This record gives sequence, structure tokens and C-alpha cells, in this order.
Amino acid sequence: MEVRPTPSSAPTSSGIETSPLTPSIGVEVHGIDLSRPLDDATLAAVRRALADNSILLFREQTDLAPAELVAFSARFGPLEHHVVSDFLLPGHPEIFVVSNIVENGRHIGAYGGAKWWHSDLSYMPEPSLGSVFQCIECPRDGGETEFAGMYAAWEELAPDRQRWLLQRRAIHDYAWHYATYLSHRKPLTEEQKARIPPTAHPCVRTHPETGRRALYLSSSLVHRFEGMSFEESRPILDEVNEFATSPRFVYRHRWRPGDVVFWDNRSTIHRACPFDEQGARRRMHRTTIKGDRPFLELDPSELDA
Ligand SMILES: [Fe+2]
Repeated sequence: MEVRPTPSSAPTSSGIETSPLTPSIGVEVHGIDLSRPLDDATLAAVRRALADNSILLFREQTDLAPAELVAFSARFGPLEHHVVSDFLLPGHPEIFVVSNIVENGRHIGAYGGAKWWHSDLSYMPEPSLGSVFQCIECPRDGGETEFAGMYAAWEELAPDRQRWLLQRRAIHDYAWHYATYLSHRKPLTEEQKARIPPTAHPCVRTHPETGRRALYLSSSLVHRFEGMSFEESRPILDEVNEFATSPRFVYRHRWRPGDVVFWDNRSTIHRACPFDEQGARRRMHRTTIKGDRPFLELDPSELDA
């Protein structure tokens, strides 16, 4: 039987079939079973689609086993082991469990967090390239993930603010974030804090695969701008974050079991939406792919105008 793409979908020039999730960000990828090894051409097409579209949705990956999630993710780079080791999946330390479920008196995953806009591991010297998030269980209502596209946010930002940001770096600080937003969890140990000192990154980064610029800020992981105090920085961070998360830049993903979303941490920020954490169950598995050090290609003459 001949299979034709639906009218809203079309093979890309690189050979995989996709359809847009929103006009500005994200595509659904059709016809790929992530439990099977991808050939090199398909892998390259997926990689390119990620760089161009920032979010890839793969539906109906219900049979994807932890080892297969790890194998797929590892095709894109080395995988991180999260500093909070309590929530790594037993037997698969590359998988970080995000869940409100309690078994045998303990939380099986990171809970009550991620409700604030962030890019995963932005506080590392070499932050994450991307994250692969698999839905195992999800509530009927709530618990969605929202993504904001940082290419478009950068491109539409006011020229004066662009010029200001091009000349600055931001201090990303997980220990500050943890103490501020995650005080309901067990405090970080001194050893954990020592592994994640504050790190400065450009506020705007050149995407290493597309060459496009993307805003690289979030108000929950950035403590302050370099050379400025927290109090001086916060109003500007809040202003930029509010703009960058305007509805026209945002895709809200309503999860179904079997969904896998692969997002590019170099060109998006994201957050979790609330749900009934006492009465409903949500269990997600995440792998986090190591990236490279953020950089900004800048011609000094750009700042002369
Ligand atoms: Fe996250």
C-alpha cells in the first residue's frame, strides 16, 4: 500500500517526515521507531531537524526500554549523570527520573521542581546539547511541559536590548537555584556544591550547528549578570524572560504515555506545568546529552551602530 504524507506533513530535504507543532517552533517526526538503531542518514536528519526546529516529538514509543532510550540518546553525544544522584534510575545512571511517585517511603524521582523557566544544566561549563524526555505515566490534567523558542525571542528582541546583551555574560548558579527554588528537597551536600560552581556564559549564543543566534538566559538558573549585583540584574532578567516566554514563542506539550520529546537546550528554555501532585501520578525518564561550551560569534562593528 502506498503511504502518502498527510497534507500538513512533508518529507524534509534531509529525508525524514515531519509536521509542525507551531508556526515558530517544534515538529512531530513521523515513522521512526526509537527502539531500533537509526541508520546514519536518518540520524543526521534527526540531528539537523533538532537544530533547525528546537523540539522533536516522537509519538507512540510505548515499548521504548530504558536501555533503548539510552542507546538512542548516546548517538548524539556523551550522556550526563545528574549531580542529584538520588534520582538516577537503578541500573541506568544515564536516566534521571522525574516523578512525584513515592515507593517504599521514598520519592523515586525529582519532584516538585522544574516549574521555572530554564535550560537543562546551563550552570555547567559545557551545558547540555539536548534532553530526551520519555513519558511513562502522566496525569489526565496538568503536568504539561512548556517550551519557549530562543531563536525567535532573540530575533524579535528590541535592538537596544540586543546590543546590551551582546556585550554581557550571565552567571548561572545551580546552588543558588537549589536553595531558592528547591528548599523542599534534601539540601545539596558540600561535595555536590563543589562540583557545580557558578559559571559565566554569554547571554546570547551562536548555535554551533545552524550558526543562528539564540538567547541564552533564564531567570531561575541565572543569578546575575557578570559585573552586576543580584539586585541590579533581576529587573533586566525578569524583563527579558517575560518577553522571551511570550505566548507566540511558546509550545505547550500535553503528554501521552509513549511520547518522547527531544529538545535542544541551546535554543529553548522550558518549564513544567502544575498538576495534582498528591493525587495523580507522573513518571518521566530523561537523558541529558552533553554539549559544548557556549560561544558568541560577534563582529565588533555590530556594536557601533
Ligand atoms: Fe528541565
